[in-house]
Amino acid sequence: MADQSFCCDRRAILSAAGVVATGAALTGCSNAQRASDAASYNRRVQHTPTGPIASTADVPVGGGVIVESAEVVVTQPSEGEFKAFSSICPHQGCPVTQIDDGVIICTCHNSRFDIATGDVVSGPARKGLATRTITVDGEDVSLG
Ligand code: FES
Repeated sequence: MADQSFCCDRRAILSAAGVVATGAALTGCSNAQRASDAASYNRRVQHTPTGPIASTADVPVGGGVIVESAEVVVTQPSEGEFKAFSSICPHQGCPVTQIDDGVIICTCHNSRFDIATGDVVSGPARKGLATRTITVDGEDVSLG
């Protein structure tokens, strides 16, 4: 009886230790992944190519264009008013892929953002798209 009790207690202790170790490993992975995702997101948001990234002729009124090479969305909420946002979704870092009916859409988890402000229209994203500064010179749209 005493051996069985010791055996079961030892198994319970080893099992509990395994759960604790697994939990610690998962927490460590989770924190490391979050830090990596945040660093990647910040690098991508700060990406700034030089020269024109789009032509105003390519940006429909009430819509926009996604410039993948610059990781930017250029929109024209109303005639002659141009806005730009990071194309990297603040939810988990997917690039947005669609602009439809006045919203920028990230199809990874279906977050939607306003084309005029970049604000969240519907989640799961809790933050809006980061604003990018653009200059419009004639038909050329450039960052900065
Ligand atoms: S990464 Fe965009 S909605 Fe999740």
